Amino acid sequence: MKDRLGRPLGSLRLSVTDRCNMRCRYCMPNEEYVWLPRQSILTFEELARLARIFAGLGVTKVRLTGGEPLLRHELPMLVDMLRREERITDLAMTTNGLLLARCAEDLKRAGLQRVTVSLDTLRPERMAEFARNTRHADVLAGIAAARAAGFARLKLNTVVVRGYNDDELADLIEFARAQAAEVRFIEYMDVGGATEWSLDQVVSQREMLEVLSRRYGRIKAVVEASNAPAERFRLSDGTTFGVIASTTAPFCRSCDRSRVTADGTWFLCLYAERGIDLREPLRSGATDDEMAGLIAETWRGRADRGAEERLGIAQRGALYRIESLRADPHREMHTRGG
Ligand code: GTP
Ligand code: 5AD
Ligand code: SF4
Repeated sequence: MKDRLGRPLGSLRLSVTDRCNMRCRYCMPNEEYVWLPRQSILTFEELARLARIFAGLGVTKVRLTGGEPLLRHELPMLVDMLRREERITDLAMTTNGLLLARCAEDLKRAGLQRVTVSLDTLRPERMAEFARNTRHADVLAGIAAARAAGFARLKLNTVVVRGYNDDELADLIEFARAQAAEVRFIEYMDVGGATEWSLDQVVSQREMLEVLSRRYGRIKAVVEASNAPAERFRLSDGTTFGVIASTTAPFCRSCDRSRVTADGTWFLCLYAERGIDLREPLRSGATDDEMAGLIAETWRGRADRGAEERLGIAQRGALYRIESLRADPHREMHTRGG
């Protein structure tokens, strides 16, 4: 099943809650938020059923996201339900790590295969200022616990923002190496939620590589075929890292992903204005076949290339202002699951 640009449906991001226990400035810079109503949040049974239907249409990769996914009670139970679907061969989670230390083992046992932890800075005082959270040590403990629990291919996500953490790239590479993890530097994106975004705060992939080659010498691109957003690079000593250049060099052409928010709204693109309500049919008795039909028909009509379209905007600024985020919280990055 291909969309209008020939892209298959391969990966599904399932947001299990829109709540978060951090307030990263590139995602949640505001004082107050409008949350999704509680009764609209899908149950584990509903989420697992959706995942099964998507798997029947070609999805093999499922990533749990939030908000912060570990704020959802009993998350290992959902993992256990998802791992029973054999067509899902890659089951992963993106977390800010704050609560990871206490549940890494349970998640591993339940069948979670991969974990990505967001780590923007190695300096607690910077995290306190930038993400309004003082528990930097908990994040580090979460990373250590994930490794100890046996998660292979542990990844760290760093959103690089000029004037905040752009002087820590090499330190983060060193830290990741010591943790047997791979760090991915993410260009600051003008997604919903990033109401303070401006182009001058974006550090481009090109600039990151320039800075890093001054320190490490020649950096080689790793040649590989994948739909992952990260381009990977190798230092002369073999250490690898990734760069996700969604802002200056988007990967829309090979984008096989879509996302379901915690209330069952399906977005075909991170930048999409509107999503498709899957909760209503799900709760009003639609059969699996009917749901699959709706999803297939919608995917076949997909032509989204949000990040590429943003490239064409002359005076590029924040995507939304606070008022329009309040009017529809589905526009928020923390609702869409990054
Ligand atoms: P794997 O490649 O499976 O390891 O996961 P991932 O890199 O897709 O997941 P992760 O949650 O770590 O996301 C990394 C970054 O990619 C985040 O900053 C996301 O905002 C960005 N990203 C995720 N999905 C999309 C998307 O659909 N479009 C764009 N342009 N960026 C995305
Ligand atoms: N730009 C780039 N990445 C972002 N994320 C959240 N907001 C932004 C943004 N404005 C990332 C988080 C996390 C992932 C789920 O999305 O850092 O790694
Ligand atoms: Fe930060 Fe993720 Fe929470 Fe957004 S959802 S504030 S990126 S931890």
